[in-house]
Amino acid sequence: MRNSNDLRQEWVALAPMWIKEVREGKNSVRNGLIDSVMLNACGKVEGLSILDCGCGEGRFCRMLVKRGAKYVLGLDLCEPMIEAARKLQSECDAYRVQDVQDLDFIENETFDVVVSYLNQCDLPDFEANTKEVFRVLKKGGRFIVANLHPMRSATGKWHRNADGEKLHVILDNYFDEGERYWEMVGIRITSFHRSLSTYINNFIKTGFVIKGIVEPTVTVDQLNEYPDLDDELRVPNFIVYVLQKP
Ligand SMILES: C[S@@+](CC[C@H](N)C(=O)[O-])C[C@H]1O[C@@H](n2cnc3c(N)ncnc32)[C@H](O)[C@@H]1O
Repeated sequence: MRNSNDLRQEWVALAPMWIKEVREGKNSVRNGLIDSVMLNACGKVEGLSILDCGCGEGRFCRMLVKRGAKYVLGLDLCEPMIEAARKLQSECDAYRVQDVQDLDFIENETFDVVVSYLNQCDLPDFEANTKEVFRVLKKGGRFIVANLHPMRSATGKWHRNADGEKLHVILDNYFDEGERYWEMVGIRITSFHRSLSTYINNFIKTGFVIKGIVEPTVTVDQLNEYPDLDDELRVPNFIVYVLQKP
């Protein structure tokens, strides 16, 4: 098991490439697939205080500010991501280097909405994050979690024919929860696979009400604009949980 400093170092190594790709707008999964689901789940954000756990270089925080959020706080344990976010910050958003498994510095019932945009899959202890988010949310506040779909995080590979065409996705080792690895520009990143019931039961046990679950897929228009999202018509790669603190 890699310790939290090892996990942080992976993101520090990836940060320059990650920031460049995000800022060049090349991330079709976010632009063409998940953003609209997340924004829809956040609903009207005018005047709200919002926390973004694992904000990366801050793109979703800036989107929320643009839609009228009163205050957005972005947290990430990777210093270069936070430095990059601060360079584009306005008076409505702020950023802090912070492990989101511990939100000790935030008082109870502070935020109207908390967002976790592809971050819980990176946490060794997502239960700690869920518990902390519950504590810092106001009553009636929402926690919007985008995650890797458990059916894809289990194994993640396509089975291909001799010509390299995708035949079907392999689902295996689903009940074997724990570390998985993916690579970007030769840098290996650790993530954590957990089953659907592990996530859902934990959200319920923590006290959240599940208001909705979305498995994002693409419309014809989205596919025309982002042809590389064609997998999304065949298999669920991501899942968005819309949770509420009663
Ligand atoms: C897949 S990226 C998502 C970034 C951003 N939410 C987005 O959608 O562009 C995951 C982010 O989580 C951060 N992260 C990983 N473990 C973390 C932890 N324990 N506490 C805070 N941030 C963490 C990484 O540094 C990285 O920026």
